[in-house]
Amino acid sequence: MTIRSTGSHYGAIAQGFHWLTVILVLGAYITSEGGSEAKIYSAAFDTTRRIHETFGLAVLAVVVLRLLWRLADRTPAPTEAPVWMQRVAKAAHILLYVLLFAVPLSAVFGTWFQGHPVTPLGFDFAAPMAPSRGLGGTSIEAHELLGNAILWLAGIHAAAALLHHFVLHDSVLRRMLPGGRT
Ligand code: HEM
Ligand code: HEM
Repeated sequence: MTIRSTGSHYGAIAQGFHWLTVILVLGAYITSEGGSEAKIYSAAFDTTRRIHETFGLAVLAVVVLRLLWRLADRTPAPTEAPVWMQRVAKAAHILLYVLLFAVPLSAVFGTWFQGHPVTPLGFDFAAPMAPSRGLGGTSIEAHELLGNAILWLAGIHAAAALLHHFVLHDSVLRRMLPGGRT
């Protein structure tokens, strides 16, 4: 496997970003807490909320770096899968990228509009704007909805990758795994 992607295989860096994103999104999801605002911001939930926000902000940082790298890297050519399948896959990838921005950003703006600081472990980033309870509530609701949506979409996307590998026996999953032929 090479550092850069080739015509048939994602390179080590593109793969690293992909699998790191998977870990961070799962980390954010597992540590997400529902419930009232009073509960989320109580002392008992401070550490869990901070861990959740740390995972979430890392997702945002990694997607920015990943897209910058994608501009410099090449993208593997389409696989042997039928054209309609490639179109559906491409649409799913674009939607996943949109959600990788929308999920953390809706949380950051929602938190600030609710009048709370954004609090990854060790830092408190105070809101740069005046609170607006209505906007804050709507953004946080959107965050919860989109946070669940990204898990569903990623689940379908993962199931499709496994289907390619075990049922269609093509190269789609292998080109996102280390060790494949380039
Ligand atoms: C990809 C990243 C993220 C995912 C997948 C995610 C997922 C979720 C989900 C599913 C919930 C709702 C939990 C439930 O109702 O059961 C939630 C709540 C929350 N998230 Fe995130 N989140 C992410 C990033 C962030 C970031 C960056 C922040 C930083 C501000 C954040 C702050 C919050 C807060 C404060 C809540 C609780 C809202 C409330 O109930 O008042 N999240 N998150
Ligand atoms: C949170 C979970 C996940 C997210 C957000 C995600 C996101 C993405 C994105 C955005 C791409 C497009 C890459 C590009 O060309 O720039 C992609 C490709 C890919 N993903 Fe995932 N993914 C997730 C989980 C998984 C899992 C669990 C698997 C395997 C079981 C998987 C297998 C693949 C494969 C094989 C490709 C390459 C597809 C192709 O070449 O057309 N992904 N993923």
